[in-house]
Amino acid sequence: MLVYLDHHATTPCDPAVVAAMAPWWSERCGNPSNRLHRPALEAAAAVELARARVAAAVGGASEGVIFTSGATEAANLALKGAAEAAELRGERRRGLVTLATEHRAVLDPLAWLARRGFRLTVLPVGPDGLVDLDRLAAAVDADTLLVSVMAANNEIGVLQPLATIGALCRERGALFHCDAAQAVGHLPLAMAELGIDLLGISGHKLYGPKGVGALVHRPGVELAPQQHGGGQEGGLRAGTAAVPLIVGLQAALTLAEADRDERATRLGALRDRLWRELEGLGEMTLNGHPNQRLAHNLNLCVGGVDGGRLHGLLRRRIAVSSGSACSQGSPSHVLAALGRSRSEAAAAIRFGLGRASGEAEIATAIAAVSEAVATLRHGAPRSIQAGRMTSG
Ligand SMILES: Cc1ncc(COP(=O)(O)O)c(C=O)c1O
Repeated sequence: MLVYLDHHATTPCDPAVVAAMAPWWSERCGNPSNRLHRPALEAAAAVELARARVAAAVGGASEGVIFTSGATEAANLALKGAAEAAELRGERRRGLVTLATEHRAVLDPLAWLARRGFRLTVLPVGPDGLVDLDRLAAAVDADTLLVSVMAANNEIGVLQPLATIGALCRERGALFHCDAAQAVGHLPLAMAELGIDLLGISGHKLYGPKGVGALVHRPGVELAPQQHGGGQEGGLRAGTAAVPLIVGLQAALTLAEADRDERATRLGALRDRLWRELEGLGEMTLNGHPNQRLAHNLNLCVGGVDGGRLHGLLRRRIAVSSGSACSQGSPSHVLAALGRSRSEAAAAIRFGLGRASGEAEIATAIAAVSEAVATLRHGAPRSIQAGRMTSG
């Protein structure tokens, strides 16, 4: 059976989440915007409960939660919405600052704003994927409207120092946007403590349904809507609320919080075992900081093999991503930012462990990589001793 180890791409929707959503598809079909009858009022109440849950999960305020279709929409609304609102109030600040390793959901709207006259600075990261705080401090000035830095990287799992970045933004009067799609449900985050003004969440990254997420903004942060219509979500995101998905997001957050710390400890130990065994094959380069990373992430470059052939062999046994993961075939801009060449990136493996990963799944992954590497380096798999290749 194929072992699924691609939980940064997406997570399976938890059966308990599916069960929580079930009645809201047809039995409880009210439209929450229509307050005239009981089914509608029940749906509205469910959405408001979910709103409070999302706010509590990230230490934000209920009135700051805007339900969206996911983290991409949340980032678009946060970035374009904050920029447009600033323009409308005659704000003189035009600077936008971000990192080269951000997700395209952030980089692309920022590039769009740059084409419309905003001044965009994309900072390089260190070889370990961490922000260079001195460079950031130099880049954020009196003209900076907004700084966007993700909580956890979707490829290399690197965790940025959010509290330090938040404090810098406060000091310089810039807004701090944080794409937390890979962090919420996996580690604790508190917007107020970290100085985050705008934070994006995605349901399908935390064992919830696809097609739902949220932008949480600090009340007082002005946003211009990017979708116009029926005035839902406080006029900031028009369109009938996706009640079943929103209920699913709430259930997923509750479940994720219940096992979050235990899961991180357990998956961290499994990930460390995976790395130890694979490192023993030789010519393995770890991508991203060794400790400041998500416990369930491992990203490495395999030396001495062709990336295409490596992934051709792996895909029969394990579902993992390559260094061209999120960019539909083009080399990863994240690995490029760490200094990896095109061919090195092609031979990268991103493992994302998840709730269902255990010793057996990790043993399969170790065996699959060991045998593929042996085949590609030596022509045929050699004997495997104690789960480790006797590499030559
Ligand atoms: C860090 C990060 N931001 C944003 C997104 C986009 O999320 P969604 O699929 O909910 O639009 C992803 C998903 O790949 C992600 O990993």
